[in-house]
Amino acid sequence: MRLMSVVGARPNFVKLAALTRALAGRSDVEHVVVHTGQHYDPQMSDAFFAELDVARPDFCLEVGSGSHAAQTAAVIQRLEPVCLSRRPEAVLVYGDVNSTMAAALVAVKLGIPVAHVEAGLRSRDWSMPEEINRVVTDRISTWLFAPSRDALDNLREEGIADGRVCFAGNIMIDTLCWALPEAQRRNPATRYGVGGSRFTIVTLHRPGNVDDPEILRELLKVLAELGEAGTVLFPVHPRTEARISDAGWEPPRGAGLRLLEPLGYLDMLGLVDAAALVITDSGGLQEETTYLGVPCITVRPNTERPVTCLHGTNRLVPPRRDVLLAAARRAITRRTPARPVIERWDGRAAERMVSVLCEEASTEELRFETVTSGGGGYAQS
Ligand code: UD1
Repeated sequence: MRLMSVVGARPNFVKLAALTRALAGRSDVEHVVVHTGQHYDPQMSDAFFAELDVARPDFCLEVGSGSHAAQTAAVIQRLEPVCLSRRPEAVLVYGDVNSTMAAALVAVKLGIPVAHVEAGLRSRDWSMPEEINRVVTDRISTWLFAPSRDALDNLREEGIADGRVCFAGNIMIDTLCWALPEAQRRNPATRYGVGGSRFTIVTLHRPGNVDDPEILRELLKVLAELGEAGTVLFPVHPRTEARISDAGWEPPRGAGLRLLEPLGYLDMLGLVDAAALVITDSGGLQEETTYLGVPCITVRPNTERPVTCLHGTNRLVPPRRDVLLAAARRAITRRTPARPVIERWDGRAAERMVSVLCEEASTEELRFETVTSGGGGYAQS
């Protein structure tokens, strides 16, 4: 059987790594990997493949950056001939980036069933391109692998047939469990000069936080202020770097706020694990901090990952100085040795996905079964 994974951006690579490992022992499965090239800087892409021990992709579409329409269209145009030549039994797409939705559209229109890894998450915020990508991808997927119970509820509310949905668990956590010992062994906190201290890690890249110069300045001011009480490490996404430079902002000299290049997965994980606080707008970090029990402040009005607030360490905070500073002070005192336990965030999500796919993807009728059919209860394995 031939499965094709299509990935494009940083968080996709982390999920692909777990799937690749779960497929490693299956001699009956050929796994073809296509990299759309949505993320292309070495630190945003190659570093992840190397550190996560994932073989180089079989195809690189090199779509690069562009408007949403241009990027999505380029993936659609360039992926179609690859799907036609390799004819996989199923195409796997990951998360909610533009490459995810584009690849799902190509496959479904060629009659190739789609498996959506990380299905059912909803922010209900239609100003986020990711929400559109999630809803469209779920609607046209044959297999929907949900990471959490709220995702199951969302899919059910939207009338998606139970038989298409599998409560697989969180695949991001699979990779975290695999990588954590090595991330700790590398001890990045010491290498970055923050070992043994209460430091904060920051990532911000969403348009809502970095595209408006007023909001960006306010956020940078807060980070500089927090830096006066303890080191703040801020690995800067290229989009954010461009906006900071447009705003003509310079980090205050000698203070605790340090802007860094984007980090690789292992250093980032090692630092997050040792941090007193994470401030972010990333989806993956909300989950990773929850699993590790590290306090997290998410600078967003909503989250598609409510379990991280209900049972985890995550808090949503607006990009306002007074609220952020107060939340940061409160959060730093919250770190406890006990880690929250979330159902099926157990390192075995990819294994569950592979067993469903290997059992069902070779079934001839699935190729022609429409994505509106289904029935039965949620698959339990
Ligand atoms: C994308 C995803 C977002 C995800 C994030 C993870 C969409 C709509 N957004 O956002 O959900 O959280 O990836 O990082 O798919 N750039 C570079 N080098 C790169 C990649 C990007 O310089 O390797 C710059 C370019 O200026 C580009 C900008 O970053 O225009 C934005 O990149 P893009 O892939 O469009 O979206 P992200 O903000 O990375």
